[in-house]
This record gives sequence, structure tokens and C-alpha cells, in this order.
Amino acid sequence: MRPNLSHPELTGKTMSTVNSNLTYNYKVVRQFTIMTVVWGIIGMSLGVLIAAQLVWPAANLDFAFTHFGRLRPLHTNAVIFGFGGSALFATSYYVVQRTCQARLFSDGLAAATFWGWQLVLVSAAITLPLGYTSTKEYAELEWPIDILITLVWVTYAVVFFGTITKRKTPHIYVANWFYGAFILTVAVLHIGNSLALPVSAFKSYSVYSGVTDAMIQWWYGHNAVGFFLTAGFLGMMYYFVPKQAGRPVYSYRLSIVHFWALIATYVWAGGHHLHYSALPDWAQTVGMVMSLILLAPSWGGMINGMMTLSGAWHKLRTDPILRFLVVSLSFYGMSTFEGPMMAIKTVNALSHNTDWTIGHVHSGALGWVAMITIGAVYHLVPKLWGIQAMYSTPLINLHFWLATVGTVLYIVAMWVNGIMQGLMWRAINDDGTLTYSFVEALEASTPGYFVRFLGGVIFLFGMLVMAYNVRMTIRQKDAVALDNQAVQPA
Ligand code: HEM
Ligand code: HEM
Repeated sequence: MRPNLSHPELTGKTMSTVNSNLTYNYKVVRQFTIMTVVWGIIGMSLGVLIAAQLVWPAANLDFAFTHFGRLRPLHTNAVIFGFGGSALFATSYYVVQRTCQARLFSDGLAAATFWGWQLVLVSAAITLPLGYTSTKEYAELEWPIDILITLVWVTYAVVFFGTITKRKTPHIYVANWFYGAFILTVAVLHIGNSLALPVSAFKSYSVYSGVTDAMIQWWYGHNAVGFFLTAGFLGMMYYFVPKQAGRPVYSYRLSIVHFWALIATYVWAGGHHLHYSALPDWAQTVGMVMSLILLAPSWGGMINGMMTLSGAWHKLRTDPILRFLVVSLSFYGMSTFEGPMMAIKTVNALSHNTDWTIGHVHSGALGWVAMITIGAVYHLVPKLWGIQAMYSTPLINLHFWLATVGTVLYIVAMWVNGIMQGLMWRAINDDGTLTYSFVEALEASTPGYFVRFLGGVIFLFGMLVMAYNVRMTIRQKDAVALDNQAVQPA
């Protein structure tokens, strides 16, 4: 099963890098790439801080705006929309140009998406600690910011799809299908879930109520995972894995089946977030069954990515960037096996509301989303600044180990905590009373919280190593530019 419809860009038959620097808009890609690193550090520092607050409550610092309840949504917004969002903008703008062999549809509109998105993120960083929130998870921002998001997103769609219409290649490379589905679906989700009645400048009420509100919220929430944290990153996978491995995609046909199966299934699975709730039983069951089916396309994609390395496995010994990409695929496989298991109602009865969910989230978020992003950034930076390679490969290798150890400590601690909490909460004495009080389960969780904090610190340290490496790489470019100036005639 190997009809090689792979794109010329991925088989090396393409314009030279020097030429492409002149042809493509790399400025906006560079800006988003730098902000990926910056928001990564901000978001993960907040993650480490809230992880510390769960071990040492005094770290809440007694101010309303530094409290766990205010900083937790700031962490999720900074990592998902700041770190993940900037990475998606950067790579989609890069990939769509390279694979369509066309410059972005409009430089002005692309710049507007950069500044508009940063404005959204800064507004989030101000309003969330002040306590302005719609209370909908991953959609906490109040209505004026929601309108700004809509404007930026529509502009993004115009730039992305406009570039596709300008393409000089006969077909649309599969990575763009995934990016395109992510852009379109997120627009529908954001607008659908955020419909609200404003009652003042910073307060609005959802137009939905009761269980309908819950269902709409988790239709959004689950697809935020499925399209923001998965489909877009699969687009990244389909470009950067073959590129870094120097091999065409294992099976182009499988990638198309993967695409349609994934997007057709994801949208029905949100009910698994509302098991044993007021949601009608049949809707919960649909959520469970669709989640189980979702295992197949998810693994199809994972296997397609992994098999792309056939004949190039030896490169893993010397190429830490490829290691980031491959390990991210392993975590993708792991979290998309775990998710369907947790969607089974009897399993969910144990896992729901425990740290098991948090472990699942971060095996996807750190293992999959962050690792593939880090691999893509290391691949991109030298190309964007016209340099041979990153400043230091040993530092990339160090980062790889810090990220892997940090992720493993985080998720193992949460699995242990989660299963223990689930079992302690349901333990019942012979007379029907609870065996453990909630506080006892909380006390028993503290060692796990400490290990998670440690894992977070290690992961964050890796991000700082990356920032240094990126900075030094870009400085090399400055040095090259100076050298070139020096040899030019006066
Ligand atoms: C086949 C794929 C997947 C399925 C079926 C799935 C299923 C689930 C289930 C059943 C829950 C627990 C719901 C609850 O008890 O409240 C959950 C939570 C979650 N999953 Fe997944 N998952 C999948 C993949 C992923 C991936 C790849 C990521 C991240 C990149 C992810 C991120 C999350 C998040 C953020 C939550 C927490 C939502 C919340 O309560 O705030 N999932 N998932
Ligand atoms: C240094 C790295 C990180 C640390 C230490 C960290 C820590 C935390 C902590 C302590 C929580 C709150 C858990 C709770 O309420 O019990 C949390 C929640 C969350 N984090 Fe992170 N995090 C990190 C990186 C990331 C990244 C990179 C992403 C996404 C790309 C992410 C996505 C989330 C999400 C979606 C939740 C909410 C989960 C839920 O509601 O079920 N985190 N994180």
C-alpha cells in the first residue's frame, strides 16, 4: 500500500532555500515561531506554579489574582492558545506556502493575524487573573475577546485557503487537509459555543441553559481537543516527520482514509465528558461508542507516521529532532488508546474527576502536542533564518531527555494518584459508610503532586534550554549577516 503521491516538496524536488526566502513570506512564520517558545515558557511556568500550589497551598500567595482558581485557566489558555496556537499558525503558514509553492495570500492579513492573536493572548493574561470569565472550560474569555478571536480566525481562514487557491501544484498535500479542517471546525465550534447575551462590558450569559449548555460546551471542549490539539498537529506531523526523516509519507492512501475517518468520528464523541450526568443516556452511549471507534483512525495516523521511518530508523541514533517527532507519535498512540478506555462508562466511573484525567490530558499535551511542536520548531528555526543547523545538537539532545523524563514523571504520578483517589472515594465499610474522608484521599495524593511538580520543573527547564539554543542560532545569523557586510565593498 504505497502509492507515492507524495509532494515534490517532500521528495526534494523544490525551489532552493535561498530562492524560497525571496518567494515566501517567512516573516510571519518567524514571529509565530518565536512566540511559540515565549508562550510555551509562560504557560508552563504557570503550570509549574499551580502544580506547586497543590503541594504547598501557601504558594497561592493570598492575592485573588494569584489564586489557583484564577491561574489554572490562565495556564490552559497560555499553553493551548499561546503555545499550541502560535505553533499551529507558524507551521500552517510555512507548510501551506512550501507545499503549494506559493506565497501567502496576503502579507497584510497574515500580519493582522499575528498581532490580533497576540492581542487575544495578552487580553486573556489580563482578564483571567482579574476574574473575568464565562466559566466555560477552554472558552473562558468574555465576549469582547470572543469577537476579536472570531475576526482573527476568519482572517486566518482567508489567508490559509487563499494561499491554497493560489497554489502552483496540482493537488493539495494532506497536511493542508488537516490544517484546513482544524481552521474550519474551530471557527464553527468557537462561534457556536460562545453565543451569549452581554449584560455589561465584561459579563455575558450563555444563550444555552441546563443540560443543553453542558452538551454544547463539551461538543466544543472535546472538539477543541480533537481539532485544536489533534487535527492541526497531525497536519504538522504529515509535513515534519517525512521532512526530518528524509522519507516520503508511508502511505498517502492511508493518510486520506485517516483524515476522513478522524474528522467524521471526532465530532460525535463529546458525550463521554458527561457520563452519569443529566444528559440523556442514549447520548452518553453514543459518546462512548464513537470514542471507541475513534481508536482506529487515531492509530491509523500514528502507524502511518511511525512507518514513514521505515528505512530511516538508524537516523534516530544521531538525530534528536527526529526523536522528538517519533516519541510524540508514541505518546499520541498512548493517549488515544487511553482516551477510548476512559470513555467506557464503567472505567469513567473510576477515572472521572480524579487525577487520572489530568494524567491523560498531559500525556496528550506534553507527550504529543508539546513534543511534536518542539521537534517542528527545531526543524524550522535554521530554515527560517537561513542557517545550516541549530546552534547546538547536544543541547537538543539534552532537551529531548529533559522533556521525556519530565513527561513520564508527570503522567505516572497522575495515574497513581488518579486510580488511588477513585478507589478511595468509592471504598465503603460494611455498614455502608465511606471508608475514607475526602481529606484523607487528598493527603494521600500529596507525594504524587510533588512528583508532578518535579516533572513540570524538568520539562520547563528543557524549554529554557530550547530558548537559549534558538537565541544562539539566531545570533549566528546576525553574525553571518555582519560577516557578509564586512566583505562587501565600501
Ligand atoms: C481517541 C482519542 C481520545 C479519546 C476518545 C479521549 C477521551 C477522553 C475522556 C473519556 C476523557 C475524560 C472525560 C471525563 O471523565 O471528564 C478525556 C479528557 C480529556 N482529554 Fe482526551 N481523549 C482522546 C485523546 C486526547 C488527546 C490526544 C488529548 C490531548 C492532546 C486529549 C485531551 C483531553 C483533555 C484536555 C481532557 C480533559 C477535559 C476536561 O475535563 O477539562 N485527549 N478524554
Ligand atoms: C511544565 C509543564 C506543565 C505543568 C507543570 C502543568 C501543570 C498543570 C496543572 C497543575 C494543572 C491543574 C491540574 C488540576 O486541576 O488538578 C494543569 C491543567 C491543565 N493543563 Fe497543564 N501543565 C503543563 C503543561 C501543559 C501543556 C503543554 C498543555 C497543553 C498543550 C497543558 C494543558 C492543560 C490542560 C488542558 C489542563 C486542564 C485539564 C483538565 O481540566 O482536565 N498543560 N496543568
